[in-house]
Amino acid sequence: MTLHLKIWRQENANAKGQIEDYTLEGVSPDMSFLEMLDVLNEKLVRENKDAIAFDHDCREGICGMCSLMINGQAHGPQAETTTCQLHCRSFKDGDTVVIEPWRARAFPVLKDLMVDRSSFDAIMAAGGFIDVNTGNAQDANAILVGKENAELSMDAAACIGCGACVASCKNASAMLFVSAKVSQYALLPQGQVEAEQRVQNMVAKMDELGFGNCTNEAECEASCPKGISISNIARMNREFLKSAVFARSTPSI
Ligand code: SF4
Ligand code: FES
Repeated sequence: MTLHLKIWRQENANAKGQIEDYTLEGVSPDMSFLEMLDVLNEKLVRENKDAIAFDHDCREGICGMCSLMINGQAHGPQAETTTCQLHCRSFKDGDTVVIEPWRARAFPVLKDLMVDRSSFDAIMAAGGFIDVNTGNAQDANAILVGKENAELSMDAAACIGCGACVASCKNASAMLFVSAKVSQYALLPQGQVEAEQRVQNMVAKMDELGFGNCTNEAECEASCPKGISISNIARMNREFLKSAVFARSTPSI
């Protein structure tokens, strides 16, 4: 099949970018979307042109590195599917496909389709971990966790930090991502010790880095490749309120 591609090209973080047109023939419907870009890049290199920069790593839907806005949809048209797991059979022969980078103030474009998502790392460093000593390896049942909380925590832990939620939100809000990380720990006994500082510090860092506020658009949930529920945002808001009301005089983590 043949695809007509309109791809954002931007030399570097300070350059002005623009959409450029490419036509790629001989695309197999069984190629992944990133393999299709690999084929295009091989063609560009053969023509002594600059290859298109884009983020990827595992190509198995687990690392969160792939990050394309495809025809205006984060990770493309298939629900709960990362760009690396999307296949060209999702498009028809002769289709025009517009490919752009994530757009958000806190995710500056580095080159072409690559953006800097280190703001997510900074939010995680502000509290997305447990650093209390939980002891040595124990029998699985030593610390009891209710089934419902265990399942909800695992659901939240499925977040791969891709940033599609930010890119899809008209406010560029990171609340789905942050709430998934807060919830993951808030639902487990091991996360309780630092719960108050965690939610305060992560939310403060999110605001400081220029992410917007949530106005209940739910675009984040619709675009999330891991099906993270916006009910996590409600839990984060409850955790935040609780931490403000019952704040202890403990130092920041
Ligand atoms: S909440 Fe979903 S869309 Fe947002 S970073 Fe996590 S996996 Fe990606
Ligand atoms: S490249 Fe790892 S999730 Fe897509």
